[in-house]
Order: sequence, then structure tokens, then C-alpha cells
Amino acid sequence: MNNLLCFILIFFLIFIDTGLAADILNVKQTLGDDGNSSIVSPGGEFELGFFSPGSSKNRYLGIWFKNVSNRTVVWVANRETPILDTFGVLRIDVNGNLELVNGRNITMWFSNSTKSSKNNPVVAQLMDSSNLVIRYENDTDPENYLWQSADHPTDHILSGMKLGWDLSTGLERYLRSWKSVNDPSPGNYSFRMYLEGYPQMKVADDSTSTTSFRFGPWDGIQFSGLSFDIPDLNFDLKLIVTDDEIYSKFDVNNNSRPVRFDLNPDGYIELLTWFDNFKNWTFSQYISVLYDECDPYGLCGAFGSCDITRAQSGQSACECLGGFVPRSPEKWKVADWSDGCVHAAQLSCGSGDGFQKIPNIKLPDTQTSWFNRSMSLADCETECRKNCSCTAYSNVDIRQGGSGCMLWFDDLIDMRNYADNGLPLYVRTATKSAVDGSSSKKGGVKILAIVIPVIIGLLALVGVILICLYRKRKLRSKGLVALKPSDDAENENEGKDLELPLVEFEEIAKATNNFSLNNKLGEGGFGPVYKGILDDGQEIAVKRLSKTSKQGLDEFKNEVKCIAELQHRNLVRLLGCSIENGEMLLIYEYMSNKSLDVFIFDKELSMSLDWPKRYNIINGIAKGLLYLHQDSRLRIIHRDLKAGNVLLDHEMNPKISDFGLARSFADNESAVNTVRVVGTYGYMAPEYAIEGLFSIKSDSYSFGVLLLEIVSGKKIRQFYNSKDNLNLLGHAWKLFDEGKFTDLIDEAIMGSCNSSEVLRAIQIGLLCVQPYPQDRPNMTYVVSMLDSENELPKPKQPGFFTDNRVQQRSEYPFYNSESSLTINDLSITVLDPR
Ligand SMILES: *[C@@H]1O[C@H](CO)[C@@H](O)[C@H](O)[C@H]1NC(C)=O
Ligand SMILES: *[C@@H]1O[C@H](CO)[C@@H](O)[C@H](O)[C@H]1NC(C)=O
Ligand SMILES: *[C@@H]1O[C@H](CO)[C@@H](O)[C@H](O)[C@H]1NC(C)=O
Ligand SMILES: *[C@@H]1O[C@H](CO)[C@@H](O)[C@H](O)[C@H]1NC(C)=O
Ligand SMILES: *[C@@H]1O[C@H](CO)[C@@H](O)[C@H](O)[C@H]1NC(C)=O
Ligand SMILES: *[C@@H]1O[C@H](CO)[C@@H](O)[C@H](O)[C@H]1NC(C)=O
Repeated sequence: MNNLLCFILIFFLIFIDTGLAADILNVKQTLGDDGNSSIVSPGGEFELGFFSPGSSKNRYLGIWFKNVSNRTVVWVANRETPILDTFGVLRIDVNGNLELVNGRNITMWFSNSTKSSKNNPVVAQLMDSSNLVIRYENDTDPENYLWQSADHPTDHILSGMKLGWDLSTGLERYLRSWKSVNDPSPGNYSFRMYLEGYPQMKVADDSTSTTSFRFGPWDGIQFSGLSFDIPDLNFDLKLIVTDDEIYSKFDVNNNSRPVRFDLNPDGYIELLTWFDNFKNWTFSQYISVLYDECDPYGLCGAFGSCDITRAQSGQSACECLGGFVPRSPEKWKVADWSDGCVHAAQLSCGSGDGFQKIPNIKLPDTQTSWFNRSMSLADCETECRKNCSCTAYSNVDIRQGGSGCMLWFDDLIDMRNYADNGLPLYVRTATKSAVDGSSSKKGGVKILAIVIPVIIGLLALVGVILICLYRKRKLRSKGLVALKPSDDAENENEGKDLELPLVEFEEIAKATNNFSLNNKLGEGGFGPVYKGILDDGQEIAVKRLSKTSKQGLDEFKNEVKCIAELQHRNLVRLLGCSIENGEMLLIYEYMSNKSLDVFIFDKELSMSLDWPKRYNIINGIAKGLLYLHQDSRLRIIHRDLKAGNVLLDHEMNPKISDFGLARSFADNESAVNTVRVVGTYGYMAPEYAIEGLFSIKSDSYSFGVLLLEIVSGKKIRQFYNSKDNLNLLGHAWKLFDEGKFTDLIDEAIMGSCNSSEVLRAIQIGLLCVQPYPQDRPNMTYVVSMLDSENELPKPKQPGFFTDNRVQQRSEYPFYNSESSLTINDLSITVLDPR
């Protein structure tokens, strides 16, 4: 009885103690996990308390934005040691450390201050910067903090926090990703400052010891290689070097909106801003897109440089520096650039060598570089000439016309071209004449390669403009501005003209809030897509073709022509177009549920797509594709079918989009050889990826890949079974072959699936990804197989089935020489030299 009373008393005391909503925790107080108590920073921006991330039941002590409705945790104390019950208590122990104990009074985490509290009373306080500090009660000087959470970041840094090294104490502050959104324990990815050579920051996948992304070196003003969209005085990202410290930090001077910088569980750096009206974190306006096709580390190999405008206009993303040629020309042709480039001519290693100036470039990896901040550029060249293994040099600092000297030895890795900005790089090449010779020879071919498409493009543009002008006059005279083509208009015009309403640019600008970032839905192959709302309330999606891509004109014309003709419930409807002042816009119906990849590859959202919905989606895609192949007047091969190109309407009905790459083909041609290979690796059939042969059967292949993704919830490009060295297709085939197909099924649909339907879907998927096009079913057959319950043929081993990142030997029977493909998320285009 006494015991019980005592227990109640203690419980009561704790309960009183924990009713804490102050900004200071002192030695007499505790913070308990009762769901209500927390510590709030004085300005009310941040809150410290207990939480469970995502679907997890584990309890963690963390700090989050107080005014952001999606709880966004920026720091976690016990990331490796969750509390499994809900009796967590935070208190200050006798040594002045913060201590987190569970219900059994066992320490789960403590702050382990290096400074002792010397019997002077301490308090813990959460600052407005999100920093949780332990300090003496009578001393607020930041220099005298006993401990601070900012020295031990998890996956976030916020305005003002340091990322890098305190050289005097050896303290390194770096980011370590969460394992997943449900699990804050340390994941595979880190973002840290490397001090070898010239200091630089990189994202590494520590499970494979590889670098995945790199900030270029600091040039005095910016990190070479980070593109700032809008130079904004309010945002300031910099590198700070003193005798004792070297770190990077950002400041947001006008802090009207929460801004965060984090390394997400997939290893991507995000700089995000919170928009209250949008109720969402949005990519910040400050740095444009951190990840594009050119960003994967070392994409182009040694001495290769990536160019995003080239990539987006349908040419090879990588190019050798002048005076260099691909080491493996065959691989280079199929967009495997990993072997990089070699000198076109032998270096003489004497005064005969020249240096080629490359004006705007993301400077190569500086890990093996050497630098001196006070040397001049002339001395730098002299120094580089002295040592034959010196491959390049540049200034260190761009300010005051450039100063300092940086030398590179060995290979130059991870470069990309920019239109402007940045330090010039001087690369050692063989004698001047040799370089000129090779580049002019190459130049001749290049000029042809550029001139012809440009002429064709211009002709096409003139044509489109004339047609559009004509239409516009017609529409204006009729006073037609509505976007939906009326039935009358459709019947009236059966000709080959563009039968599309033309819309004023201003009207679209207004509907999309002047193409504001808040309205941006995503980035397509040839430009960004925005959401818009017309005056009459109709929602639209607007694709704004990038002005820079010349060949986009071709694609524009193509897309407009194709889609305008196509009407099917499983195809996205094109509502109109606009061509004014060189701006080309396509206006589509708006799909409220974005694209299929958003759902099936997301742990949480995939739960909302049960098997009946997925089966409906599979059927819809098959029917849309069948229509393209057979029933439409034009007969279209899509060529870039993938999860990202399947949009979902408000009822989760699938609609195929992005016909920019589609080509119509004549009835009697079953396979067409193209000079341009266009598509997305992983989804591309072997004969298409390697030989540029495309047919309706290459679309069947992509459909098969997509089908297996929908069933498994795994991405073709990210799935890799290291045990068997199998990709998703190989894995699926093996499980199917062994009768263990249930192992392939996405957990999210386990509860809702009809196993005979799923088995059928898997089998159809495997039939579609067979290596020989003639073995693959066409879409008519696919649709009938999906509908019936007849027995299906047994699939052969898939076309590509081993590790998709290092495809050493081709399993593709038509192609015996070494072939290798790098995998890239974006739709890519390769110039086939034939
Ligand atoms: C928990 O342990 C600490 C010391 O480790 C002790 O001072 C404290 O009284 C204990 N609390 C309870 C409720 O047992
Ligand atoms: C606390 O810090 C000291 C010195 O930094 C270290 O040796 C010790 O292992 C740490 N203790 C824990 C439990 O992390
Ligand atoms: C705080 O109090 C301690 C002991 O009471 C004293 O030694 C110290 O000087 C005080 N510090 C300040 C800044 O007042
Ligand atoms: C801060 O930003 C807000 C919104 O962007 C703007 O209205 C305000 O004028 C800015 N304040 C300063 C001092 O720049
Ligand atoms: C850097 O170069 C300057 C001028 O050439 C020289 O005086 C200095 O010693 C060099 N510093 C180092 C660390 O090499
Ligand atoms: C050239 O530089 C490399 C790398 O710094 C160094 O190992 C080598 O000794 C140097 N050679 C000469 C001749 O200075």
C-alpha cells in the first residue's frame, strides 16, 4: 500500500515537473514525454520535444520548426537509441550534461560535454537559431557554452550553422542522412568538408565508399558548380577559412520564411523554403536545381565535361576537353562515358606542351590538388610546367581579377560547362599545333552536325509560326479564346493544320502567376511545367519549352502535331499552345495526382494505391499505348514510356504524357532505324539502346519494365540485388522461375492483391522484356492477356538482367562486343554516329 502511494506521489511530481512550456530547463526540472510538454525558443520558431517519425512508434528527442504544419525535425538527440516506451525524461545530470532516460531510468543518450560545470548551476536553453545549448545560469556568452547541438548536427543545417572543421579541437560538423523518413538512425549518405588538397564539400555514399555529388571549390564568391538562379542578397552561402576553423554556412538575412538545408535519406541535398499558403516545403529560389543530368559525380569520366544545354537539346551530355578523345569510343557512343578521355596526342612534357583555357567550368575534384593563395597565374603556369604529371592549373580566388595558384595532378574529374561565371581552368595539352589540328578536323563535322538541324529547326519554326499566326488571326476574328476545343471545331477541320486554340502568352503568364516557382510542378525533358488557373477557374498544366534548346523547336512541332490529333481517355489531352516572342508553351489538362512514380516509389503514398487501383492503372496504360500503336490515325511509338510519364487524374486514372519524343511511322514499317536514340535507360529495349532500332516492340519492353515496377514498388534504376548481381528484371525473372513470385510483390499491396492477377501481371511484364523483339507481345496481345484467364506462354530470360550500373557483358544476343550503359534518371538522347 505504501509503495503504491509512493509511486503515485512520484508520478504526480514528475507530472507537475513535466508540464513544461518554457524556454529554459534547469537542474530541478525535467522534460517528460507526455505528448504536451516541450521547450520553445524565445522567438517561438523552434520546439524541442519527443516525437515519432513517420509511421514509426519509436520515440525520439528532437527539435522541429514550431510554425510549420508538417512537422519537420531538424535535429535528433538519440537517433541511434530510440525510446521504445513513452516514459522518456530529459534532465540535467550532476555533471551538467543533458541526459535522456527511458521509463526504467536507463540512460539512452547524454550530451557528453567536454567542459565541466564546476558546481556552477547550469541550464539548457533552445535558441531561436534552433541551437540547443547548455550554459551557466549566470552566463549567456556563446563562447562559454558548455555544449551545443549545433556542434552535432544530424541531417540539417539551418541559417547561421557551421558545417566543417574546428581545427583546434578536431571537431567535425557534418551531415549524415536518416535511414528513411521513418528512421532517423544514421543512413548511408554523408555530406562533409574534405580537407585533402584544396578544401571541398562532397556527398558520399559510405556504404559503397563512392562520391555521389560535389560542390565545386570555393572561388572567393561562390562554390564553382552551384548555379545560383537568382542572385539574392538575402541569401548568402559561403566558405569561411580562419587559422582555427574552416567551414561553410549560409545566412538568410530576411528570414520571413523558414529555410532549411538537408541531406535527405536518398542522398540528395535539398535547400527548401516553407510556404504557408502552399502548406509545403518547396525548392528554394536561391539555388536553382541542385540535381540535373550533369550532377552525378564524375559522370563524364577523366577529362570529360558535361553540358546541360547539350544534353537537353538531344546531344551527348559529355564531351572530351579540347585536345582529348574518348578512351573507349564504342562505349562513348552508347552514352557510357565512365572511361573518360585521353590526350589526343602524346605530351612532350617539355616546353612544347600548351595550355588550353576553358573559360567557364566547374573546377575538377581538388582532392589531389595543391594550392598557394599568394602565387600569380604566371608563376602558376611555370610551376605546372615543371612537373609532367601536372595536368591543369587555375587561380584560387576569382576576386580582383584572380589570384592564387591551384595545380591538379593526375586525372581531371567531375567537370561541367557553364554559360558564364567561374574561374577559367588551364588544361595541359600536347603542342599547340596538334590541338588546333584535331579540333579543326572535329570542328568540320561538328559544324555540319549543328548546321543541318538548325536549318531544319528554323524551317520548322517558320512553318509553325505561320500556321499559328494564321490560326490566331482566324481565332481572333471569331473572338475565340476558350481553351477547350469545341466539337464543332474538331469536325470542321480535318486537315493537317494545327487544330488547336492559340492562347495569348499574357493569359498564360497570368494564369501561372507569371511562371512563379510556387506554381512549378516539375521539370520535363525540354523545360519546366507549371500549374495555372485560368480566369474561368479551369486548372491547366503549362509546359514552357526552354529557350536555350534549339532542337526543342523540332520537338515542339512534333509534340503539338501528335497530341493534337490524339484523343483517348488514357492519354493526356493537349488543350492549346502559344508561340509568342520565341516563347513556346503547351497547355495540357491538369492532372491533380501528379505522376505514377510519385506514388509507387514512395513508402507512404504507395499505401494509397492498392492492387485494384494498380491493376486499373496497368490496364489503362496498356489501352493508351494500344491506341497509340494501332488505333490512332497516325500510329505513334512513344519511345519514352516510364513511370514519370504516366500522370494520374483525380480518380487515379492513368494518362500517358510527353509525346515530345514520339514519332509517327508508316503502316508498312515495323521497325525504323533512327539516328537519334531517345529514351530513358532502364526502360529502353536492348536493340533500341544499342542499335537505335525502335518499333512498337520497344514500347512493349518499356511497358514490361513499368509493369514490374508497379507490382514490386521498386525502381528499375535503383534496384540492385548485390547477392545475385541482378537488376529488377533479372530478380523478377528468377523469383518467377523459382515459383517465389510473391517475394516480388510490393508490401503496400500485399493485403489487397489477388494473387492470380498479380502473377499474371508479372508474367506479362516478363514476356514484354524478353530480349528478342519478335518474342515480345504487342499491345493488342497484352490487352487481351490482361482481360482473359487463358494460360500464358513462359517468358524467356529478360534482355538486360544483371547489374544495371556495370553491364560488363551484354546478354543481348544480337550484340556481342562489349557494351555498357550508364543509368540515368532523365530522358536522354544519344547521337548515333552512323
Ligand atoms: C534515476 O537515476 C538517477 C541517477 O542515475 C537518480 O538520481 C534518480 O533518483 C533516479 N530516478 C528514479 C525515478 O528512480
Ligand atoms: C564522451 O566523450 C569522451 C571524450 O570526447 C569520449 O572518450 C567518450 O567515449 C564519450 N562517451 C560517450 C558515452 O560517448
Ligand atoms: C557565475 O557564477 C560563478 C559562481 O557563482 C562565478 O564564479 C562566475 O564568475 C559567475 N559568472 C558571471 C559571468 O557572472
Ligand atoms: C523581406 O521579405 C519580404 C517578403 O519577401 C518583403 O516583403 C520584405 O520587404 C523584405 N524585407 C526586407 C528588409 O528586405
Ligand atoms: C606561396 O607562394 C609565395 C610566393 O611565391 C611563397 O613566398 C610562399 O612561400 C608560398 N607558400 C607556400 C606554403 O608554399
Ligand atoms: C610531381 O608531382 C607529383 C604529385 O605532387 C609528385 O609526387 C612528384 O614527385 C612530382 N615530380 C617532380 C619531378 O617534381
